Amino acid sequence: MTAGEVIVVGSVNVDLVVRIDHLPQAGETVTGGTFRRAPGGKGGNAAAAAARLGARTRFVGLVGSDDLGEEARGDLTDAGVDVGTLGTTEAPTGVAAILVDHAGRNVIAVAPGANAELTGGHVRDALATVEAERAVVVANLEIPDGAVAAAAEISGARGWPFILNPAPARPLPGGLLDRCAAVIANELEAEALGLPGATPATVVITRGADGAEVHRPGRPVLRQPGFVVEVADTTGAGDAFVAALAWSMLEGMQPERGVRIACAAGALACRAVGARAGLGARAEVEALAETGSSGQRTGAR
Ligand code: RIB
Repeated sequence: MTAGEVIVVGSVNVDLVVRIDHLPQAGETVTGGTFRRAPGGKGGNAAAAAARLGARTRFVGLVGSDDLGEEARGDLTDAGVDVGTLGTTEAPTGVAAILVDHAGRNVIAVAPGANAELTGGHVRDALATVEAERAVVVANLEIPDGAVAAAAEISGARGWPFILNPAPARPLPGGLLDRCAAVIANELEAEALGLPGATPATVVITRGADGAEVHRPGRPVLRQPGFVVEVADTTGAGDAFVAALAWSMLEGMQPERGVRIACAAGALACRAVGARAGLGARAEVEALAETGSSGQRTGAR
């Protein structure tokens, strides 16, 4: 039997990050910041986070045939992600403009570019090449509905649990929630989509500094406080949480341990500027999950 995989079907961006004392209001200019270019995209970040945990990880998505596309591909490869199913298109590579303030809070504007061209056909063709018998598939909403729906459909046909991270939230294609093994949403996304009531799937709601809660039909809500870390940038914390929960499912962990590991992974992701700069290796995440103090600081939102 082949080893299991985490398969991420999603977006990949290059992030243009300005760290600034406070976030400007509309019409305001704030100067004195520092600039950094960093790998990003919710899908790319989740794939890098899963690989950092030691999971065999594959990415399904699109970049442009431009310099940023080469950079994004190289960053994923360096992170240990299999990019054999990362395609190239004529549209420019996705870019995110990100402002981060002194407390690590952010605002993000995305130009999806190539990500918006990912079709159900691309996803079907990519997943047809996967030989793994065991896999957990993750998708986010920075790609078109057809691509997400195809990922869910193929996952069902192959017997792979499908996790939806409905970020950023938008109305979902009919029937999609019924195909999910788990839905992982932040508070705003959960409210926008009527979660957890809208689906019989396990729903995990991330609450930033307050940790996360797991809703399962007919079971008491499982609550996990956040872990204390020094925060530099909360960008990508949610992606790290999603990846760790997917990995925990691949490893067959109980939900209690899985959500604790995911909260620890989300918190560690906040310790450096850039969505992937703070990602924790397996030993670090497990150490924080086992010994770290919880109850105050940040996690995934
Ligand atoms: O979740 C964080 C990510 O959202 C950033 O890396 C940015 O690219 C946007 O997609």
